Amino acid sequence: MADKEISLNRGLQGVYLDRTNTTFIDGKEGVLEYSGYNIHDLAENSNFEETSYLLMYGELPNQKQLDEFDASLKNARVLPQQAYDVIDIVKDSHPMDVLRTTISTLSSFDEDRDDFSEDAIIRKGIRLTSQVPIIVMAHNRMRKGLDPIESSKTLPHAANFLYMLEGEEPSEDTAKLMDTDFVVHADHGCNASAFTTRVVTGTNADFYGSITAGIAALSGPSHGGAAEGVMELAKDVGTPENAAAHVKNLLANRERVMGFGHRVYKAADPRAKHLKDGVKKLSEEKGETAWYEILLAVQEAMTPYARRGIHANVDFFAGAVYYLIGIPQDLFVPIFAVGRIPGWTIQILEQMRHNILIRPLLQYTGERSKEYIPITKRD
Ligand code: CMC
Repeated sequence: MADKEISLNRGLQGVYLDRTNTTFIDGKEGVLEYSGYNIHDLAENSNFEETSYLLMYGELPNQKQLDEFDASLKNARVLPQQAYDVIDIVKDSHPMDVLRTTISTLSSFDEDRDDFSEDAIIRKGIRLTSQVPIIVMAHNRMRKGLDPIESSKTLPHAANFLYMLEGEEPSEDTAKLMDTDFVVHADHGCNASAFTTRVVTGTNADFYGSITAGIAALSGPSHGGAAEGVMELAKDVGTPENAAAHVKNLLANRERVMGFGHRVYKAADPRAKHLKDGVKKLSEEKGETAWYEILLAVQEAMTPYARRGIHANVDFFAGAVYYLIGIPQDLFVPIFAVGRIPGWTIQILEQMRHNILIRPLLQYTGERSKEYIPITKRD
């Protein structure tokens, strides 16, 4: 086909892949809704359990439905021994690699492994929502030679996640902030990892294969890895006074300021506000406001770039939240995955409901019709 007849969309920018009833994003206005509910309402009034139900079933639950859903999540707070064995074998790897490998292993021990029905996918999604935090925290303990801390059977999801760090129940405010972080990370349209889960599901491969691939896509710094980069940036900046010069230097060298910019949002990322408010409060509570002040100074230095649609994204303040809570830096990306399982689950289901093989084209630009020369006659 002639060049001019091909419309090339590198990175599939601006391409609609399918329809969804789950997440609405207006990148120009900075609007995000899950199943029709604004993220600000959910971040302020809902919690991760209710938001997960909303995503998986498309409607807010009544009290009985929420209680049952919550009980299923709590009952699923167990890992097969074989998963701990796998964690132990690969425990020296990056936590995202450990998470990817362990999730892949879980398919072998799932009683619903060969059941591709909607109910079975929801059951797998619920189980994995509860198991991913255990994998992340068990690995964090085991790599230090410590025993994993057994999940609480009563704490809410976010509080239980933090409890498994060192066996201490977090304060109400800290648990609420972690919960808000999970709510704002729960789904985000056709980003790289969700797209990856859809591509794998498109081939009729199984749930665990799709999530394993999604985890791999999430691990890169352009996607989930930015929160880790933001704390590195804050440490490099050192003091608020250095922020403007540091940012100027990065931009002059055409380097990326981590935690800024987004493929879809050209207005402020609506998720960032909730974590920014949380960092401010947590910093003040802990009497450790230096990181917040550095981040504010970096944000100030980036103000001129807002005109070009480059704003702080969800990851900009997320790293400081985790850091102030005392979570090791290499767990920042896995935390993103902890919050994202409900979103990936519903996207896999949506893809399955009217499945189609996802198979775009590549425009060939190499030489053609070359003569094959036997190896003995090549220079
Ligand atoms: N710092 C400096 N310049 C930037 C940044 C940034 N963080 N982001 C975009 N730009 C500039 C970029 O240099 C380019 O300029 P020019 O047109 O002069 O070449 C322009 O903005 C467009 O950038 P792009 O890379 O073509 O835009 P994209 O849509 O492909 O990239 C992005 C989106 C998120 C990969 C990018 O903004 C980035 O690398 N940000 C830093 C990493 C980051 O924070 N990632 C987390 C994203 S939010 C979590 C999630 O939902 O995954």
